[in-house]
Amino acid sequence: MDWDSLDWDALDRLRAGFLAGRPADEPYWRNESDLAAYDLTYAERIGWKWDAVLRELAARGWRPRCRSVLDWGCGSGVAGRRVITALGGAATFDRLRLWDHSPAARAFAARRAAETFPGLDVAHESDPSDDAGPVGLLVISHVLNELAAEQREQLLALVARAEAVIWVEPGTHAVGRDLAALRDRLRGDFNVVAPCPHAAPCGLFADGQERDWCHFFAPPPPALPADPRWVRFAQRAGVDLRSLPYSFLVLDRAPLASPPPPDGGRLIGRPDVMKPYARFLGCEAAGLSMLELPKRVDGALVKALDKHPPAALYRWRHAGGRITEIEALVPARPSPEPANADA
Ligand SMILES: C[S@@+](CC[C@H](N)C(=O)[O-])C[C@H]1O[C@@H](n2cnc3c(N)ncnc32)[C@H](O)[C@@H]1O
Repeated sequence: MDWDSLDWDALDRLRAGFLAGRPADEPYWRNESDLAAYDLTYAERIGWKWDAVLRELAARGWRPRCRSVLDWGCGSGVAGRRVITALGGAATFDRLRLWDHSPAARAFAARRAAETFPGLDVAHESDPSDDAGPVGLLVISHVLNELAAEQREQLLALVARAEAVIWVEPGTHAVGRDLAALRDRLRGDFNVVAPCPHAAPCGLFADGQERDWCHFFAPPPPALPADPRWVRFAQRAGVDLRSLPYSFLVLDRAPLASPPPPDGGRLIGRPDVMKPYARFLGCEAAGLSMLELPKRVDGALVKALDKHPPAALYRWRHAGGRITEIEALVPARPSPEPANADA
């Protein structure tokens, strides 16, 4: 499939299902054409979110220690491919296991992975919940709101067997809070690599924070606005490709090589940048609070926050809701590479 032969009926039907965001009675992938159209478009957009997460992990110096990946709820398999590519391909990993309750999805994802990583052992036949083998690095992408309670517990049983987890979801209020609640449930068994600047309970569940959620925005590839295929796709699909909100969670059983400092903080969501200051929701061990960063404290940062995603971790001091000192600890994410297919 290419851009000229996109199966729009399939894309419209799939999008309507994604927007409904509830457990489907049965797999919605009807055939290879559904998966190919999704892989070229919506999955690639999800891939840009993965690129942002994986750039952050590289900037933090984090790598998983295991050599096998399980992509659960794989769909066309974009998440597993992005992870393996970013972390060194078949030189880093021996095995990719793919699972989805749709056999068509598993077969499509396995074929794409085998094409992308010759030499990697790619398995897609059996349900990992049916065996007790090691799970390695568990990759989960855009699945949470499709799971009924029992399926969710099945997934969490796999999380309990994983050595590390990278989990990326859409940055909506409901899913972002849901993932944060899972983070609190899992933080006793794992070290939280990201996004949290602390290991304390999540501040989202304090009184008064019900309207907030943990989410970030990935930058789209710089060449996107000049690419007529994507411009046409965005118009036809009614999707804003400039806005790529995501929520994410990265867990590791191994101790963190560089845990966040006690005065570490992170910006949540999109900052409001006004003339004299930027205002944002700040997350730190003490909880969440609205903070103002006056231009006179760091004019260059205020300006940068208007255009670029914030750094992943700051050290800051504040008094009365005003930042008095701020320093980026994990550097601002470098600008994204041109649209990255897989390799
Ligand atoms: C929105 S798609 C995301 C696909 C892929 N992870 C991605 O990020 O592009 C959700 C996927 O979860 C799968 N899924 C839904 N419920 C499932 C379940 N109970 N067990 C396994 N896979 C499931 C669907 O078949 C679908 O492929």
